[in-house]
Amino acid sequence: MKKIFSPLIFSLGILLSAQTSGPFTTANEHTETVDSRNAAMVLDFTIDQDAFVNQCISQVNVDNIANTIVTLENYGTRFHTKPSGVQASHDIKNWWQALVDDAGRTDISVEEFNHGFTNQVSVIVTIPGSVSPDEIVVIGGHLDCGDYWIQDFAPGADDNASGIATLTETLRILLANNFHPKKTVQIMGYAAEEIGLYGSADIAETYKNQSKNVLAVLQLDMTNYKGSSFDTAINNDGAYTSAELNLFLIDLLEHYNSSGDHIITYGFSKCNYACSDHASWTQNGFNASFTMESAFEDSNPNIHTTNDTFAAMGNDASHSAKFVKIALEFVIEIAKSSNLSTADLNAPKLQIAIDQRDLVYRFDNFNGQLDSVVIFGSDGQKIKSVEKPDNNGKISMKSVPAGAYVAIFKDSNGKNFSKKFLLK
Ligand code: BES
Ligand code: ZN
Repeated sequence: MKKIFSPLIFSLGILLSAQTSGPFTTANEHTETVDSRNAAMVLDFTIDQDAFVNQCISQVNVDNIANTIVTLENYGTRFHTKPSGVQASHDIKNWWQALVDDAGRTDISVEEFNHGFTNQVSVIVTIPGSVSPDEIVVIGGHLDCGDYWIQDFAPGADDNASGIATLTETLRILLANNFHPKKTVQIMGYAAEEIGLYGSADIAETYKNQSKNVLAVLQLDMTNYKGSSFDTAINNDGAYTSAELNLFLIDLLEHYNSSGDHIITYGFSKCNYACSDHASWTQNGFNASFTMESAFEDSNPNIHTTNDTFAAMGNDASHSAKFVKIALEFVIEIAKSSNLSTADLNAPKLQIAIDQRDLVYRFDNFNGQLDSVVIFGSDGQKIKSVEKPDNNGKISMKSVPAGAYVAIFKDSNGKNFSKKFLLK
């Protein structure tokens, strides 16, 4: 079902219920059928799995990531036509299957997706949802490397052994924490990206033809080279990524990675072309995002050469570790754990509504003090900020143009609360 947030109906609900218990009782009435993508669905994504997410992101092991990168680099080439490239795709299937088997998880499948145009396979891990199995969250990256000119000697450590290593470590941690999602999670290694996104295009097209309900896709392609002053660049090219899903990424990064042990700084960048597999999903009508290792112009200069090695990245996988955290946050917050801890049930909750172009907000279970509210657009531009706001109140959006935004509330202890919203 395709839905979009309708402030009109929402506001009407607010007005009608205002006499009884205020604007927040009607939050389920804000959907109607319009858009070709699940924009309202994405804007409805919440962040409320703090205890479980923090437990998981504390377990990222840099050595595991390093080992996977080196193991993949040692195939010499993973170009889709080369025997070592075909072998690598089967081996990745077997490694992921072994992780699943070691965890004793017979409910999780690991499958090869065969393509008519190549012997290299894509690999898909499916962790079935317990409540809404038809709703799917995808994280993926390509497992091949090389390009038309360099088929034999590009070892592809960053492009994209690092992405496969990021996915592998994400899977390991989800299994180690006995993750049983409410929605279905799929982890994908795509074949034959380097010849024009062939593997992911085949999968995304198949999913579209089968009317699969993919809610959100995160692309992990090149995660281990830190070329910019910030840690990751959200690809904000509106032709190939979803502005709404990008807002959710900002939301996650502000919530989990704004300070402390898990800090991840971010900026924005564009490839300005269909540079990776997220474009396959976008072109088939799904919401996809791609957060990159750096700004496009600062990215690893060695890709598609013999020098794309782990050694050239200083034999250090710590940059990729940040992307494991982002992938864990993305998967857990969209798919939601089936067993929420009491810590999360009792956590402070922020609720917002748009009423007459005012952003109305309220906190439940909150005994802190707000320090600031900042509103960002999906390009990362700061739209508005308010210092020392009341804990419950409203902020005028009357001068703000129509669009998708995220409001980030910080309390005096530096804790962040954020929500996305749409202005019409
Ligand atoms: N990993 C690259 C894309 C990339 C490059 C992302 C730099 C971020 C920064 C990908 O494997 C690739 O090589 N893509 C091709 C295009 C594709 C359609 C064959 C490219 O960029 O030329
Ligand atoms: Zn490439």
